[in-house]
Amino acid sequence: MMACRGIAALLVCVVGVTAADLCLDCQEDTTTAEPVDLVLYYEAMCPYCRTFITTQLYPTFTALPSRVLNVTIVPYGFARERQGNGIWEFTCQHGSEECLGNIIASCALKHTSYKARDYMPFINCMEASTVHGHELTALHKCAAANKISEAHISTCLKNKDGKELLHQMALTTQRAKIHYVPWIVVNGQHTTSIQNSAQAGLMSFICKKYTGLQPSACKGGSHASVIG
Ligand SMILES: *[C@@H]1O[C@H](CO)[C@@H](O)[C@H](O)[C@H]1NC(C)=O
Repeated sequence: MMACRGIAALLVCVVGVTAADLCLDCQEDTTTAEPVDLVLYYEAMCPYCRTFITTQLYPTFTALPSRVLNVTIVPYGFARERQGNGIWEFTCQHGSEECLGNIIASCALKHTSYKARDYMPFINCMEASTVHGHELTALHKCAAANKISEAHISTCLKNKDGKELLHQMALTTQRAKIHYVPWIVVNGQHTTSIQNSAQAGLMSFICKKYTGLQPSACKGGSHASVIG
């Protein structure tokens, strides 16, 4: 840690190499900057949510280390809920299949102890393959490909755990007072400017927001390759 810093400083002076070039892996040691916090409120089948997740959020998330970007997702959006006989029932903007997709996502979050590194590949796969009426087919494909137990998710769907988990997402979403989806909150803030910047080019937006040493993924202005 100190050694890295020392060597970096030496090379900066002697060879003109920047500290950022050298210390990519000395993550905690080179900076005390907080990661940029991003919370995404979405619903499984909204087209712009799918686009944002698959073309912006997931590529950016995979390109940046966790010291730079901290992602949280909340799959609920504009669903509605009511309680009958102690069980939550949901109605979703894009139909019951979307409710199923939201519950699958909620179960996957719980199943991975809410660790984005473990659930994001699965969620990205679900959003990339989701079409009306095929959530269970997508689950089958995406679970196997992303180290998520399909059996575990299926059990979560069948008993009332899944509905209870989605109810928690409902409460979190209500607190956020969203006006549309995808609804993006960065460092606790949602503004039109934040939303537009995040949707237009999440990678460069997060790089600009991050106050610590820029990771290699932020350099070179090659962010367009992430979007495409
Ligand atoms: C990541 O974000 C969540 C939700 O905003 C927050 O509770 C958590 O403390 C953050 N983690 C880090 C390491 O900043």
